[in-house]
Amino acid sequence: MNKRTLIVGNWKMHMNTSQASMLLHRLHERIKIHRNIEVVLAPSMLVLQPLSMQIDRRKFRLAAQNAYHKDEGAFTGEVSFTMLQDLAHYVIIGHSERRLYFHEDLDLVRDKVAAAVRNGIMPILCVGETDHERKAGETRQLLHDQLTTALANLTASDVEEMVIAYEPVWAISTFGGQLAKPSDVAKDMEFIRKQVADLYGKRAASRVRILYGGSVDDQTVRGYLEIEDCDGVLVGGASLNYHKFSGIVDAAYRMRHESGDE
Ligand code: 13P
Repeated sequence: MNKRTLIVGNWKMHMNTSQASMLLHRLHERIKIHRNIEVVLAPSMLVLQPLSMQIDRRKFRLAAQNAYHKDEGAFTGEVSFTMLQDLAHYVIIGHSERRLYFHEDLDLVRDKVAAAVRNGIMPILCVGETDHERKAGETRQLLHDQLTTALANLTASDVEEMVIAYEPVWAISTFGGQLAKPSDVAKDMEFIRKQVADLYGKRAASRVRILYGGSVDDQTVRGYLEIEDCDGVLVGGASLNYHKFSGIVDAAYRMRHESGDE
């Protein structure tokens, strides 16, 4: 099976409506339609609606960065997955910034994944260890726990459609941004796929897309995209810069071209 390389730009809490619209305009100019590359933009919740009207759907899909796991009710300040159904194709769930700053625990992440699936929005589930956990040798146990809980209550076909982003927390610019060695990342990504195989079988494991979500830019992305189990990247800071983000998409395209499946 020939999966499309998935490049997701997580804009985090940056850009008001007009700045976001300008960035999208520039990305439209620079990024071409590539059959084997899927480009997804995750702007703030506020900006999803205006961008959904501006976006060229042949080039980009939209993702939400978060949502609440109940479909409707008295939950002041929250937005449900149900409300996002026509706006977002994907939703980022369990990003380390949400786990650490907003105390999202394993059960909440599991409920959000289930709510996304229930509402037909594809989860991009983020998993990954802190520097402290890595140094204590707890990476595998933590990945196991995060995956086992988040994927509970899903079917194998739900899992094969979804996306898992491996984000070593210490390699995200917010939390230190050390450059992770692709050879180390490769082992953890292989472990993640193996975990999915143990839980949901080989077919789900080979189909689920696994992204690298530590810091990357147009200069470093290639090393991660070369990892056998890596189906794409979840980009933070570099996705706010249209030169860098389109450079990342170009790098992915060149790699597909070189391997003969443009
Ligand atoms: P940076 O690329 O800014 O380090 O962020 C990575 C990330 O958190 C992607 O979701």
